[in-house]
Amino acid sequence: MYTQLLLALAGASAVIAAPAQSAPSITQVLQYALSLEYLENSFYTGALEKYDTQAFIDSGFPDWVRGRFEQISENEQTHVKFLQGALGASAPQPCNYSFPYTDPKSFVTLSMGIEGVGAAAYLGASKYITDPGTLLAAASILSVEQRQVGWVSSAVLKHQPWDGAFQTPLTINGAYSLAMQFITSCPSSNPPLPVTTFPALTVSETSPQPGSTITISFNNANNVSPTYLAWFNGLEVVFTNIDTNGAAQVPSGLHGTVYVGVVSSDQTPLSDADMVSGLAIMQFPYDSMASETDNQ
Ligand SMILES: *[C@@H]1O[C@H](CO)[C@@H](O)[C@H](O)[C@H]1NC(C)=O
Repeated sequence: MYTQLLLALAGASAVIAAPAQSAPSITQVLQYALSLEYLENSFYTGALEKYDTQAFIDSGFPDWVRGRFEQISENEQTHVKFLQGALGASAPQPCNYSFPYTDPKSFVTLSMGIEGVGAAAYLGASKYITDPGTLLAAASILSVEQRQVGWVSSAVLKHQPWDGAFQTPLTINGAYSLAMQFITSCPSSNPPLPVTTFPALTVSETSPQPGSTITISFNNANNVSPTYLAWFNGLEVVFTNIDTNGAAQVPSGLHGTVYVGVVSSDQTPLSDADMVSGLAIMQFPYDSMASETDNQ
């Protein structure tokens, strides 16, 4: 059992390993974190300006939901100020954003996705934070982001409060590929982030049944072949084949929020060099009676 766990962890850390030469500096990691915090801050501020308590109630939410979102919004503002303070003159400026929600319901659903990416981004980037004090501060923020995800997912949306025993980390490129879709323009004076951008991945279904077939599409400009769909869930990655029509079978045994991306290898360790597309978010909701291997 213990050996298996160690093997799983060894495999998992390899899964998220970026090439050593491209390891970002702590300043770059904090700039990346602040960029994501700006996005979250703008997301919550904008939605709360648009929707008052009555709008939330009209969308079917109890009256305490908006109050908690205000607290989340305040937390994000505090994270922004904290990171701006830590970065001083190296702090980037906010970008312009566009979020595709149209009412409180779609805002809440989107917040689960955005909040989850924020938390997964901190987790994945934590290995680059070599300074203990900075790591502690980042872990402290990460804990709050993850609790916020759990609250939105379970208390508000009545889905699972966690995705299993291990939280899914995202690489910097992976998380940024998801954040990018909401960023319309950034000040040209901003320092460049340590990210490579990938073609967007579209999936035919974002909450498919295990064993069913989905179709994916992305711009394979470099004609990478063969390609595989990598399913990131906790510290594990499951690979499925993609046929010539873009069809891929949905694995079983996935729980909660799962990230998928097209990669050029079906072997771990994977690195960012193996990424062919950006990531997409998939949901495999499971209820309180679900066993570990049962999605139903
Ligand atoms: C953001 O949008 C405003 C209004 O359209 C524009 O004036 C401003 O230049 C934009 N900022 C950036 C950083 O692109």
